[in-house]
Amino acid sequence: MRIGKQDQAFTAIATSDADSITVRGYDLCNELIGQIDFTDYFWLLVTGDKPGDVQRRMMNACLVAIAEHGLVPSVQAARMTLAAGPEAWQGAMSAGLLGMGSVVAGSSEIAGRYLGELLERVEEDGRDLEQVIIESLEALKGQRKKVPGLGHPQHSGGDPRADKLLEICDGLGLSGKYVNTLRVLASHAPRIIGRALPINVSGAIPAVILDAGWPLDAIKAVPLLARAAGLSAHLFEESQRPIGFIMSHKADQAIAYDGVTSSANKKSA
Ligand SMILES: CC(C)(COP(=O)(O)OP(=O)(O)OC[C@H]1O[C@@H](n2cnc3c(N)ncnc32)[C@H](O)[C@@H]1OP(=O)(O)O)[C@@H](O)C(=O)NCCC(=O)NCCS
Repeated sequence: MRIGKQDQAFTAIATSDADSITVRGYDLCNELIGQIDFTDYFWLLVTGDKPGDVQRRMMNACLVAIAEHGLVPSVQAARMTLAAGPEAWQGAMSAGLLGMGSVVAGSSEIAGRYLGELLERVEEDGRDLEQVIIESLEALKGQRKKVPGLGHPQHSGGDPRADKLLEICDGLGLSGKYVNTLRVLASHAPRIIGRALPINVSGAIPAVILDAGWPLDAIKAVPLLARAAGLSAHLFEESQRPIGFIMSHKADQAIAYDGVTSSANKKSA
């Protein structure tokens, strides 16, 4: 069966023969291994080019900012999965990565696309940024939808990771249209939505890394790569000093059954 267009049967990432491996035009063994920093390699792999100094520093800052935040739901899922299947790190790691969705931990992509859409309306329709943002916030409020990249359950007074990333971005001279859009958004949101809504780390990451030149369609790779490092720490700790079953026991104690009892079923039968 043939599905989809068949006219671009190419990959530009890597190729190999019996003696060598070529990655993005570099000889892996002679030009990359032992010579390239992993953040540079990540940038090279994804974009096809090595980053400049400011791009590397911005990416490093993002990866460090999002790698770890304690026993968040995706980490709990990973640790409980390892407790149940200690022989399968890959299963436990996958459980953690699968939990990085649009609400927490994985929301950078949604926020990045939202900033992109706002800018598209400004650039393509020649509209005023503030007006576009005000209209969009009013629409989200009307539909009772969340503003991507804003709000945090714990850091309600301001997410320190977001503030630090924006400060670094300003310091590196990278802040441009995405950071500006995020800041204008955050300045209008509290009034329109009717509550304090600080910029969160998943709003700051796309803004700073898009301004650094990272592609919009690869935003999700940033938190995924970073959290793989944090999950590695949790899985190693789980293997040495397990808490997975403690967490599952506490959850069992915390959640009460309010379904139909078997005696009630018997009576109605
Ligand atoms: C992260 C998040 C889940 C935290 O939520 P929270 O502080 O626990 O708040 P809740 O989801 O319980 O919502 C409480 C109220 O605040 C509102 N609210 C919270 N974040 C909001 C946002 N970003 N935009 C609009 N309203 C928001 C909710 O609609 C709700 O209003 P209601 O009481 O009238 O129903 C939430 O802010 C969010 O979904 N943000 C967007 C997604 C995002 O950026 N996630 C990355 C987090 S690092």
